[in-house]
Amino acid sequence: MMKTTSVHGMWSSRLMFVMAATGSAVGLGNIWRFPYITSENGGGAFVLVYLACIALIGLPVLFAEIVIGRRGRMSPINSLKELATSAGASTAWSGIGWMGIIAGFLVLSFYSVVAGWTLSYGFDYLQQLAFGAPAITDPGAHFGALLADPARLIFWHAVFMILTMGVVALGVEEGLERAVSILMPMLFVLLLILLGYGMSTGHFQEAVGFLFSPDWSRVDGSMIVTAMGQAFFTLSLGMCAIMTYGAYLPSHVNVPATGVTVALADTAVALVAGLAIFPIVLSFGLDPEGGGAGFIFTALPLAFNSMPFGIAYGMAFFLLLSVAAWTSSISLLEPPTAYFVESTDMSRKTIALLVAAATWLMGLASVFSLNIWSQVTIGGRDIMGAIEFLAADIMLPVGGLLIALFAGWVLSTSITREELDEKMPSWAFQLWLWLTRVVAPLAILLVLGGILGLF
Ligand code: TRP
Repeated sequence: MMKTTSVHGMWSSRLMFVMAATGSAVGLGNIWRFPYITSENGGGAFVLVYLACIALIGLPVLFAEIVIGRRGRMSPINSLKELATSAGASTAWSGIGWMGIIAGFLVLSFYSVVAGWTLSYGFDYLQQLAFGAPAITDPGAHFGALLADPARLIFWHAVFMILTMGVVALGVEEGLERAVSILMPMLFVLLLILLGYGMSTGHFQEAVGFLFSPDWSRVDGSMIVTAMGQAFFTLSLGMCAIMTYGAYLPSHVNVPATGVTVALADTAVALVAGLAIFPIVLSFGLDPEGGGAGFIFTALPLAFNSMPFGIAYGMAFFLLLSVAAWTSSISLLEPPTAYFVESTDMSRKTIALLVAAATWLMGLASVFSLNIWSQVTIGGRDIMGAIEFLAADIMLPVGGLLIALFAGWVLSTSITREELDEKMPSWAFQLWLWLTRVVAPLAILLVLGGILGLF
């Protein structure tokens, strides 16, 4: 039987789903992670590989997640179990949902720490604006001091986790729909202003060259893994977050058009962020390949110091970036919450609290890896880097691979066709089907197999 609604609530319109899914997709991944890993991977060639991953792997998997979620109408674990059963396949497929919960737990643990940095910066600028606190004249030292201070990191990490928990505890319709539809467009406007500033620095051409002219000698296995991981991370794919949002999507909404809108919006934000940030980096004589997780936190304050109204602007920028992170983190907490609401007697509030508390505790590992445990390394990465790598670059693609196989081979084409769009031209459906059945899984396998040294 096909269900038309979910017990957790429904998006009130197509636009609200687009807002929520875009809110999930657009976040620190676009504005913090994309610039810093692009920098570390030498620019152009990385960006092109990343764009190819979005188109050939990301989009088909995005459609697949929405289709599975909407057909199942429950949390990922239960949707997968039910759809597998009615297709006569093994219920072991629900393991995708369990893996997604673990991946989401790991992603949110460090994501919340970084979101804490942005809150802390927003607060710094607020203090400058309101109480005349001294400007950030040495951004490197300022950032270093933040990382060296576990108490401050833990405080902001906690504030952010409480904000995330609050919305998920209330259920998604009330707070989230409203926040997303006002604040995300504001962030985009701020990014465009920053882009204007970047263009005025006289280094715009150079930045465009760095971002888009490929140096193919930079391409190697680890770079491709990073680009693919980023494609999953930025579109919120591979851990069933979009699947969960799909479960709340009304049946009449056209999935392909909606999915393409979300992916285009997300990609546009990342590219605009890159085009805004690299001219600034170049104009202050910083190394565009200097990278590192502090990339925007050390480069942007330089621009804010020399822009008109830079302090107010800096405050608005970091606060809106925190909001973008917030609308993303909600989608990381919602899948486990929905699952435990379905399978236990506890209330949504209690569950949100428990999951958030556990994730917050896990986040302490990332906090301490920035200071007291900074000497500890796992496979050549510090603890936070190792968690980021394992969750984003390995677990998300593996999740995406299994999701694609499930949607492509386990679900019947009559189901996927009906969910995608009955009026979709046949060639477009076939294109999606074979990208999902063969191209995306094979590409993921090749890339991951390469990095694991299998061939
Ligand atoms: N896409 C978000 C960003 O770019 C982060 C995010 C939200 C995410 N939900 C996710 C990443 C699910 C992976 C999986 O900031």
